Amino acid sequence: GSSAGDTATGDRRRRVLLFPLPYQGHINPMFQLAGLLHSRGFAVTVFHTHFNAPDASLHPAYDFVPVPVPVPNCMPDEANPDAVQATLDHILAMNRACEAPFRERLAALLEQQRTRDGVACLIADTQLLSLLDVARELGVPTLALRTGSAACFRMFAAFPALCDKGYLPAQESQLDAPVGELPPYRVRDLPSSSSSACFAVISEAISRIVTAAATSSGLILNTFDALEPAELALLRQELATVPVFDIGPLHKLSPAASNSVLQQDRGCLDWLDTQAPASVLYISFGSIASMSATDLVETAWGIANSGRPFLWVLRPGLVRGAPPESRQPPLPDGFHAATRGRGTVVRWAPQEEVLAHPAVGGFWTHCGWNSTLEAVCAGVPMMCRPSFGDQMGNARYVDHVWRIGLALDGGEVERGEVEAAVAALMDGGGEPGAGMRRRALELKSRAAETSCLNVDKLVSHILAL
Ligand code: UDX
Repeated sequence: GSSAGDTATGDRRRRVLLFPLPYQGHINPMFQLAGLLHSRGFAVTVFHTHFNAPDASLHPAYDFVPVPVPVPNCMPDEANPDAVQATLDHILAMNRACEAPFRERLAALLEQQRTRDGVACLIADTQLLSLLDVARELGVPTLALRTGSAACFRMFAAFPALCDKGYLPAQESQLDAPVGELPPYRVRDLPSSSSSACFAVISEAISRIVTAAATSSGLILNTFDALEPAELALLRQELATVPVFDIGPLHKLSPAASNSVLQQDRGCLDWLDTQAPASVLYISFGSIASMSATDLVETAWGIANSGRPFLWVLRPGLVRGAPPESRQPPLPDGFHAATRGRGTVVRWAPQEEVLAHPAVGGFWTHCGWNSTLEAVCAGVPMMCRPSFGDQMGNARYVDHVWRIGLALDGGEVERGEVEAAVAALMDGGGEPGAGMRRRALELKSRAAETSCLNVDKLVSHILAL
């Protein structure tokens, strides 16, 4: 055994193999983890698909191994009314397609490494179960990185039981019912679908995530104890034989550079410099979530009518069914005139820096886990409009547990509701805005106190595998 504080730069330099799920919200934490492990002396090899391939020139110290796969090299069709099903199908197809070529390349690498630094383990995303299985078959220990919260993992582990008890698939009349076994969740906070085909794929994806963790030699979570103390304690009891490493907030602890798939518009930081402190509403719905054309119109007028300064990320492909030639979603007539001088619309932003900018006073988010953590660490209160997967649960914690934001009603966006929510969020003097802001700043300072102690534990664990 080795003790905390070990590094991998002893007699035998050790190598970690990483395989991120090639989506932005999963690439970021994996590369942040890579940065941490590399700084502790590990050599790093990153396996990747051509789909959303990382830019190797940003990481001259790492080795990259492409795994050529014959699956569509594009995002699932954004015009597909069931984007969730399309995304999950894409991930399952990638698992299947990568299996054989990954086995070949891993075997070749192991052969080569015999005379060089030994391979310590593979760390893969929990959504790449097939590849974790391949590594173990070849004698490589595995660790699973789950990029969501501890609460979400517990909910995933309980998913079959929640189905047996009749909570799922969610019934319209039951959406506000509390999930007694799993507070503070309500039925509406669980992943579900009214399409039985989609629900089947969701169930399968969740079961694979849980299996990936349960069959690995450790579960790595991008969270921290001050944020989810009870959830982490319960998860450790429930997983019993699999050690859990809460090593977040990764974006704060890691020296990693940006790994943005889309080009970030840095000009918006200059615009923020011209704005008053805590005055700007930042709006972004992450890399996958989509909205209808009607929701876009209501969102736009809600923002315009709020009268507040704003920075809005309108990602290409955000709006479902927009014609391919206008990938940048079209804004309603009159929007620019109504908001002239008051706001900026960009295709993609340097989000961490935006949230840390003193001019930003609120964040309208879809509550992807990375966005949620980034806002927590920046002390920015949130307005939540989750759309799928773990996002509803994350919004529930923001609104109900940490009380650093407010959730919009599910369903369609309505401009009046948006306007009222923005007013409540951004009114620094009145309640509930002031309370949310105070608690957000408290949580920010707790996040800043998080040490690298758990990273030390992870390093020791890897060296002892
Ligand atoms: C997905 C899921 O939706 C999310 O719920 C899950 O927890 C992780 O995978 P995504 O929807 O893209 O991720 O959201 P999120 O987790 O918030 O990740 C988005 C990342 O993109 C963040 O790290 C954010 O900083 C970055 N980003 C977002 C930008 O760099 N620029 C932007 O304009 C918007």
